[in-house]
Amino acid sequence: MSEPRQILVTSALPYANGSIHLGHMVEYVQTDMWVRFQKHRGNQCIYVCADDAHGSAIMLRAEKEGITPEQLIANVQLEHSGDFADFLVEFDNFHSTHAEENRELSSQIYLRLRDAGHIATRSITQYFDPEKQMFLADRFIKGTCPKCGTEDQYGDNCEKCGATYAPTDLKNPKSAISGATPVLKDSQHFFFKLPDFQAMLQTWTRSGTLQDAVANKIAEWLDAGLQQWDISRDAPYFGFEIPDEPGKYFYVWLDAPIGYMASFKNLCARRPDLDFDAFWGKDSTAELYHFIGKDIVNFHALFWPAMLEGSGYRKPTGINVHGYLTVNGQKMSKSRGTFIKARTYLDHLSPEYLRYYYAAKLGKGVDDLDLNLEDFVQKVNSDLVGKVVNIASRCAGFIHKGNAGVLVAGNAAPELTDAFLAATPSIAEAYEARDFARAMREIMGLADRANAWIADKAPWSLAKQEGKQDEVQAVCAVGINLFRQLIIFLKPVLPLLAADAEAFLNVAPLTWNDHATLLANHQLNAFKPLMTRIDPVKVQAMSDASKEDLTASQTDTGSAAPQGNGELAKDPLSAEIDFDAFAAVDLRVALILKAEAVEGADKLLRLTLDIGDEQRNVFSGIKSAYPNPAELEGRLTMMIANLKPRKMRFGISEGMVMAAGPGGEEIYLLSPDTGAKPGQRIK
Ligand code: 2FM
Ligand code: ZN
Repeated sequence: MSEPRQILVTSALPYANGSIHLGHMVEYVQTDMWVRFQKHRGNQCIYVCADDAHGSAIMLRAEKEGITPEQLIANVQLEHSGDFADFLVEFDNFHSTHAEENRELSSQIYLRLRDAGHIATRSITQYFDPEKQMFLADRFIKGTCPKCGTEDQYGDNCEKCGATYAPTDLKNPKSAISGATPVLKDSQHFFFKLPDFQAMLQTWTRSGTLQDAVANKIAEWLDAGLQQWDISRDAPYFGFEIPDEPGKYFYVWLDAPIGYMASFKNLCARRPDLDFDAFWGKDSTAELYHFIGKDIVNFHALFWPAMLEGSGYRKPTGINVHGYLTVNGQKMSKSRGTFIKARTYLDHLSPEYLRYYYAAKLGKGVDDLDLNLEDFVQKVNSDLVGKVVNIASRCAGFIHKGNAGVLVAGNAAPELTDAFLAATPSIAEAYEARDFARAMREIMGLADRANAWIADKAPWSLAKQEGKQDEVQAVCAVGINLFRQLIIFLKPVLPLLAADAEAFLNVAPLTWNDHATLLANHQLNAFKPLMTRIDPVKVQAMSDASKEDLTASQTDTGSAAPQGNGELAKDPLSAEIDFDAFAAVDLRVALILKAEAVEGADKLLRLTLDIGDEQRNVFSGIKSAYPNPAELEGRLTMMIANLKPRKMRFGISEGMVMAAGPGGEEIYLLSPDTGAKPGQRIK
């Protein structure tokens, strides 16, 4: 066995002035799955994060709410921590950049950079709000576009004509904070001399630390030549004062990434097994990964490694960049109800549905990820409920009923269990490379094979035959063991499902290496439904609630398109399904071998159906239309063959036959045209 790796992982620090939404969750879920995978494999993996608490936006919002910035960030930290916990994102520490550890580390890093000659100062001229007595960042200045004359445009670009310009080019500029006309004013600023690190960055960004697409983008910036970076802001500002420079503050982006270190340092204080220098010292052998979105690559792949290098710390092992979230193929939009806050989602749906969907769609590249709400319902229901959980629910009952819940020894499908074993390295590799989509594809491929094998053995038919009890038990023991393997593979994505499965399997928390063993002569606990299907009505309710909980503090990121665009229809019966959802229904031609009344049931007929490779027992409420059931024998009809078996008072119903009509005597069993054969799929 190789030594466990020491790994420190971060996600970007969310701003402390807004709620977490499903776009943010792409990153936190993805990082959490990767971290859980590492822990599952036995590595030491520490996951830290924090709220990004500084800057003028937070200062102004607190002022507007009539509270101090400290109160605002404390409230938001509570909200954020709750959202993450309920999405099963398990940080080892969730701290704040407005913390003593961060003040100390930011000062130390700045002083080391200054003393090594990497800080420059010079005067710059900026707009100043004479009423608020503060300098105005570009986004706090509004005016008329110098190019097309559109009014009310922000300081650096025109939404109408797309022109970019300096705020001083705007006509009739106004402070967006007070409405006053800004004046130009000089002040001394501090700059980090990024060009000092050009050579280092040229090598570092090409040393396997970045995905190719990211490295190529960075190369363009490097080729264009690096500029000095303005790291100071004048008072009033919510942040840390620069040592020896009263009235000057670190720009929020200077101390934000240092917040990663500060959060880890804060954790070290209560975890004596962790040594700060072992992770951050120049000679650290630990791995360090930052997960970020593609909009903040310059801060993480240029400024940050340069700051670390210049102040004597180690640089990251890798920067893992992902794309943006779109919903139903478009930017998230409040008017369409697709700007969905984490809490709004959680009010309606289980976190594991989204974790799985994101996993199924997340590759290792920087492509955007689309949350298509119809596909979401279909995929989760079909994969998790229809494939994975289905294996356990198909087999557990027979073991409880036929063998008092004891899973027998022996392996009735060595080829299949070997195939699961053989697939393991490739699944692990996919997780390691953050190719979650490939991992999920491979796992679902195994689930398909398990289901096909069980369907072929048909323990439900064997159970009805004399002397086949041992075979039923042997088949179901394999089924439960394969289900256990799938749970081991899925545990980083679905920790709650895994915990419930462990309780049913009556086993200690599963780790990755457990995949190498099988359960034998093992007592199971009672089986409870492990996951329910997503009801599309709940998705619609979430969308409706998202339209309602719009707040003025967030801007709509999409256009106000007419409603109904790509959304689920309100009535689930008339909801459109896409082709994949249709294709997931196994419609077959069935030959009615036997049709008989069911004693004690007024409306039901028991049908024995031949669907080519197997026989099915189906209860159907069509007796009122067919009082002489025997006349149905020998007739062809159509059935849904992959409907989850349903336990009824009279036995298990293994599918559903298709009929039309309002009821009573008017029920018409559907039939295929002559020539169709039992078992043929209806397409
Ligand atoms: O873009 C953002 O949301 C920033 N708050 C991310 C900061 S990441 C790190 F550098 F602190
Ligand atoms: Zn314009």
